[in-house]
Amino acid sequence: MDLDVRFGAAIAIAEEAAQLALRHFENRGALTVEHKGLQDLVSAADREVEQLVRTRIAERFPEDALLGEEAGSGGAVSSRALWVIDPIDGTTNFLRGLPHWGVVLAFVADEVVEHGVIVAPVLRERYVARKGRGAFCNDRPLKVTGTAKLSEAVIGFGSNKKTPHQPYLAALDQLLAEGIEYRRLGCASMNLAAVASGKLDGFYEAKLSPWDALAGMLLVHEAGGRCNDYLADDGLLRGNSVLVGNRPLYDSLAAAFKVFSEA
Ligand code: IPD
Ligand code: CA
Repeated sequence: MDLDVRFGAAIAIAEEAAQLALRHFENRGALTVEHKGLQDLVSAADREVEQLVRTRIAERFPEDALLGEEAGSGGAVSSRALWVIDPIDGTTNFLRGLPHWGVVLAFVADEVVEHGVIVAPVLRERYVARKGRGAFCNDRPLKVTGTAKLSEAVIGFGSNKKTPHQPYLAALDQLLAEGIEYRRLGCASMNLAAVASGKLDGFYEAKLSPWDALAGMLLVHEAGGRCNDYLADDGLLRGNSVLVGNRPLYDSLAAAFKVFSEA
């Protein structure tokens, strides 16, 4: 399997998809929007962008399997070569005109995440990571922070309506008492990119789908951070919690959020 060719294709496809998404963003008032669940939206832009990505991958790699947020997988998740697609991560931000959203692609070969690409066109940022070869934003190498005290840390949080919020508030309460600051960007992949970039010291969300999680977690890993074992317990099929952090703070964050595995 040619990983170099797939990595190059992932960048080109994500860039093309991001330009399509940006055109919709600029005319977002005209989009048809549906509710998939409580505070869980999908627009015609999400569906059209995913279809473009699927078409481009199928043209070049017809033997590879696809898992996308909007169109699913057709049961092919255990395939040797799997593209994981979020056409728009941060749909709520997108529909409200906030800048933190992006097209996210990850590639999994034999259950190893080989590369990830996130293109955030409003921010003019393109994040890429390859396993063992580093993480970059617009070709600049990324490195996590060295912040060692919770009282100097700024942590990203995400929450959604698929998990109860009380445990989350308990952990936040504990960490706020220790002196942290926090941010909520409303886009999991961009939170993970922010940790990889040294803009945040860590990020936690109790349950994320693989299209939200895999590309950004590889970025953090390649930028020198620590990550929980997302693929454990059938994470690729069922989703999992996500915790990432810089090296000194990860253990404190893991204790607060009761995350027990590390990749
Ligand atoms: C969502 C965003 C949000 C996170 C949710 C995700 P979507 O993705 O990343 O920040 O809190 O858990 O589902 O639905 O906008 O692709
Ligand atoms: Ca999405």
